[in-house]
Amino acid sequence: METWVLSSHDIAKVVAAAGRDALMGRIIDRLAEGFAQIGRGERDLSPPRGGFERAEPVPGVFEWMPHRDAGDSITLKTVGYSPANPRRFALPTIIGTVARYDDHTGALTALMDGVLLTAMRTGAASAVASRLLARPGSRTLGLIGAGAQAVTQLHALSLVFELERVLVWDAEAAHRDSFARRAAFTKIPVQIADPARIIAECDIVTTATSVPAGAGPVLPDGPHREHLHINAVGADLVGKTELPLALLTRAFVSADHPEQARREGECQQLAGHRTAPGLTRLAAEPALARPWRERLSVFDSTGFAFEDALAMEVFLQTAAEHGLGRRLPIEHHPADALDPYALQPLPAGAPAAR
Ligand SMILES: NC(=O)c1ccc[n+]([C@@H]2O[C@H](COP(=O)([O-])OP(=O)(O)OC[C@H]3O[C@@H](n4cnc5c(N)ncnc54)[C@H](O)[C@@H]3O)[C@@H](O)[C@H]2O)c1
Repeated sequence: METWVLSSHDIAKVVAAAGRDALMGRIIDRLAEGFAQIGRGERDLSPPRGGFERAEPVPGVFEWMPHRDAGDSITLKTVGYSPANPRRFALPTIIGTVARYDDHTGALTALMDGVLLTAMRTGAASAVASRLLARPGSRTLGLIGAGAQAVTQLHALSLVFELERVLVWDAEAAHRDSFARRAAFTKIPVQIADPARIIAECDIVTTATSVPAGAGPVLPDGPHREHLHINAVGADLVGKTELPLALLTRAFVSADHPEQARREGECQQLAGHRTAPGLTRLAAEPALARPWRERLSVFDSTGFAFEDALAMEVFLQTAAEHGLGRRLPIEHHPADALDPYALQPLPAGAPAAR
């Protein structure tokens, strides 16, 4: 059995063939339905992720994120969070790969990039949460942190709200200055604004920063619209949070993965406080979320592998529709299952193995 591989070139062709908006729209729909299935008890939540933390020479985290659909497949994302990457290596902060295995045999059935997939499914998760918890007529989006995730946060939210402008802030001047160029495809006017103005003027705010653990908040507490909804995306490590505690304690805080969020998300700050039903429950029962569309709400997004599994499905289906990707014999499946040396024939001219 061969592995279906989507290279970075295939990913580019998938995006070109389907179109950014259609692809993101499909991921949003798939996540909305998948979250509701978990909320109704029809599918399982992924186990919390594990990882290695590295301090020096390049601080960051390397994580493994598993999800099992019993009887069908296991999806495993391996992902590095290395916030020095853009500056030191001209690489994204988040780099990952997603692998899918057959649940019956353990064989590797598909393999693809996790960089674009992560950014798109994280934007899509915020779109699903915001559609549940933000005021439907929201027009102004604020972004704190103008890095890679900010682009897909704006993209996904622009597909579910009629956004008229986006106010953006980043600690690095070069990142806030280049955001308008990176977001130009959305055609939504971008203005640079400081965090106090963002919280005061926006209907929806996304925080997606690489602020170090213990160095938050990135958004001040201050006057805001009564119906403000915040997608807190960047708190996904032990000790790392982005929002002020006073704001969190006033808000309806719904987490994507409550257990993981208590360990790594904004919910770390809420130990001992009552938290709201999780996003999967709200997706299954939107009536629970409806009253909060006119009040302060927070989506505590830490990200989990079920989202990656669903986004991978969308990429693979789109690739199949357009005949993209390659089948490669990555694993050795010997002709005699009991003889590991029953190797595939060598290409002509290759030296014989001993
Ligand atoms: N919840 C999820 O599912 C999920 C998924 C992917 C990434 N993330 C998290 O989102 C965050 C952003 O990821 P990214 O890929 O956009 O990284 P990135 O490096 O591309 O962008 C992060 C930006 O934050 C800015 N920043 C750092 N400290 C700041 C501060 N105090 N105020 C304002 N801006 C500040 C940086 O200058 C940078 O531009 C990371 O913490 C990442 O782990 C979460």
